Order: sequence, then C-alpha cells, then structure tokens
Amino acid sequence: MHGQITQLPDDIQRRVSALAERLQMSEDELVRSLLEDALEFADPQDVEPEMTRLLFPETEVTDATPMTKPETTLPFSFIDLFSGIGGLRLGLESVGGRCVFSCENDRFAQKTYESWFGENPAGDVTEISACGDIPDHDLLAAGFPCQPFSIAGVSKKNSLGRAHGFRDRTQGTLFFHLCEIIDRKQPPTLLLENVKNLKSHDRGRTWSTIEGTLQELGYEVFNRIIDAADYVPQHRERIFIVGFRRDVFGEAPPFAFPTPPETPRPKLHQILQAEVEDRYTLSDKLWQYLQDYAEKHRRKGNGFGCTVAKLGGTTRTLSARYHKDGSEILIPQGDGKNPRRLTPLEAGRLMGFPEDLAGPGQVVSDTQAYRQFGNAVVPAVIKAVAQQIVTVMRAAVVAKSANGCVLKSGSGERRNLDIVTKRLAQRKPR
Ligand SMILES: C[S@@+](CC[C@H](N)C(=O)[O-])C[C@H]1O[C@@H](n2cnc3c(N)ncnc32)[C@H](O)[C@@H]1O
Repeated sequence: MHGQITQLPDDIQRRVSALAERLQMSEDELVRSLLEDALEFADPQDVEPEMTRLLFPETEVTDATPMTKPETTLPFSFIDLFSGIGGLRLGLESVGGRCVFSCENDRFAQKTYESWFGENPAGDVTEISACGDIPDHDLLAAGFPCQPFSIAGVSKKNSLGRAHGFRDRTQGTLFFHLCEIIDRKQPPTLLLENVKNLKSHDRGRTWSTIEGTLQELGYEVFNRIIDAADYVPQHRERIFIVGFRRDVFGEAPPFAFPTPPETPRPKLHQILQAEVEDRYTLSDKLWQYLQDYAEKHRRKGNGFGCTVAKLGGTTRTLSARYHKDGSEILIPQGDGKNPRRLTPLEAGRLMGFPEDLAGPGQVVSDTQAYRQFGNAVVPAVIKAVAQQIVTVMRAAVVAKSANGCVLKSGSGERRNLDIVTKRLAQRKPR
C-alpha cells in the first residue's frame, strides 16, 4: 500500500504551490514528476543543474539561507595547562589549533581528558615547570587556579628597600610556575582564564601582580569579563586574559575581544532531556532542607540558597559543588513533583560540550562529571576569543613577509637562463 504525504512543512508547501501554479500543474502531478525525475537521476552526477534550481529558485534560496561567515582559522600549535577536561582545547581546536602538550593533576579529569582526546596529560605543573619537556608552541592556554599571593613578603622587602621582581611577588603560587614556563618557552600568545573576581581579589593587588608580571615578561596584556550566557543558557562570568609578545606583535597589537553574537540567547529548555530518571528528583527531606535554608538567608537579607530555574531563561553558574545538592540550578517538574537536578548530560550541554562527549563519553562517576563540568570553561566562548587572537596572528604572519606572500622562499641565487637552456638542450632524452 502506498502511503500519502498529507502534511508538508510550511515553507516547502509554499514553494510547491508556487511552482505548481507557475508550471500550471496540480501539486500532486508536480511532486510525482519531480520524484520520478529524481529516481531516474539517482546518480547525483547525472542530475541536471536545472532540476535543483527549479524546486528552490535561486532568489528564494538566497533570501532564506543567510551566508555563514567564513571561520577565522590558522594552523597553530598550543599547550593546554591546568587542562581539566579540555574546554580550552575544544575552543582552540575549532579555529585550527593543534594541541602539543597538556597538563592536569586530577586523576579523574585526566581520565576524561584521555578518553576524549586520546592523550594522557602530564601531572603536576610544579614538577614540569622545572624540566624541559614542553615543546615549543604558538599559544599557551591555561585556566589556572587562583591562589592568594603572598604580598606580606613583598611588603617586608619593600620596607627593607630591596628591589623585587615577579619571583619575589609570586614565589610558591601556581601562577609563579605558569610564569616560569612562559619565561622559558616565550610563546608568542597567551590565553588565560580565571574567575570573575580575580580583579577585585585582595583589593586589586592580585590582579596587579598578574598583569604586571605578564607585562614584565614581555607581553601586551588585554583582559575582559565575558558572560557565557550569549552562547549557552547559563550565566557564567569569567575573566579572559590575552597576551601578545611585544617582540613579535609590537607595542599595540590590533586585538579586540569578540562582540556578543546577534542571535537570541539560548534558553534552558533547549538543553533539557525529555525523559529523566527519578533518581535526579530531590527527596522530600532534601527539598525541605533547601527551602528552609533559603528562607533563613532571605530573612537575614542575603541571597544564598537554592534556585528553581526558569525554563525559558538562563540558569545561575554551574559550580564544581553541584553534585552536593544541585541547589544553584534546580529544574521544575510538573505533577506536584519536587524539582530535580540536571543530569550529567544536561550539565555538559549547559556548558556547551559536544553531545557525544558529554553523554556517551562519560567515563567517570556522576559526582566527578558534575565537578568537571563545574570547573570547566565554555568552549564556544574560547572559540570566539580565539578567533580574535587568530586574526592578530594571521596579520602578523602576513606582515612578516616583505611582499605579503607568506610562503616566499629566502634569497635564492638567480640562475643564468642562457646556461640553463643550453644544458637542457644537451640532455639526452630518457
Ligand atoms: C579551573 S580548572 C580548569 C578547567 C579547564 N579550563 C576546563 O575547561 O576543564 C583548574 C584545573 O587545574 C588543575 N590543577 C590544580 N593544581 C594543579 C597542578 N599543580 N598541576 C596541574 N593541574 C592542576 C585542577 O585539577 C583543575 O582541573
């Protein structure tokens, strides 16, 4: 028995009707003849260009299909320090980057990273910074943990009138080890990421140490707090620090952070699973506890507590402690049910990780998966920033060549064409 197509999507229906009218055929006849033609020209090589143009005339295709902007890419190498599960790596790879080294000391994050990227990251950064096993690279990427800097030691040295460089200011911190690597490898570009309040931490002194140190190491430094809510349905403000070596890019590299995309912000409901197991629903006891806790803090006048998210909006920031009670992002459920947590797959989607990695790619417990996503960066934000870095790198590559031709060879000697021609004429045919 032949089935019947009774409902076509509106835009296809409109085009079929318009074409049938133009060709003075019934819609049924038109569709049947197009299908017959399509079967006859089953080999795509044989399809006459006319055929495809006929169904979707060029003007309509152009109107309905906006041109996508060409991606800004460059084949560059990078290293991924404090790599976590590779949020920076995914963003950098999407603009042409090739990872040549990674480092992460948490064994569960290492397990996920190895499963996703086929590479087991080196361990503790404090051990690798002293030895020479990091290959050369174009860009150093690091989402370094923020540790308090020991300013007390500096003040004492100040009062003794002794000079101090970045070694004295930061010795003992992970940032110091990062700087050791930067100083030794001198990568042309840096992309660092950290929590939003890095700038206000310790009344601004932490930030001025970081910025001053990078400048001292030879970099022009740019920074911007970016909210990932333009890319995923989650408010996630992070500071992004970009550095360009002055001896490569000059004193004023033409860098600008990306402007937010013009498309509407994604909504929470777009990343939720249709069916979720009951184990993600909060127990009566936990739900009551969270409500009481929130109420207690409301009375004290502060905003701590749990948040039931709006399905048509943006969630709060997913934290590394989400696995404990899920309190910052609870999903409302119908039928009088208590709210539920996000599943690990939804947490991965909320961070913008690819579906195959966040879902079937989960190789650790739910607890570890939440922690890893809560610690990560949103790859789409990295991609947007990296495209801007790549623009500057491309311009520098082209500018390095005298005539704008990046593959021009060096100063090869010129040949005497008369001699070349004579020699060729003397050659015996093979
Ligand atoms: C803020 S997270 C970075 C997350 C990463 N950007 C991502 O997208 O998954 C910082 C990472 O540094 C790692 N870490 C902390 N101390 C370290 C050390 N001494 N050596 C190597 N990694 C370290 C932590 O385990 C954590 O995964």
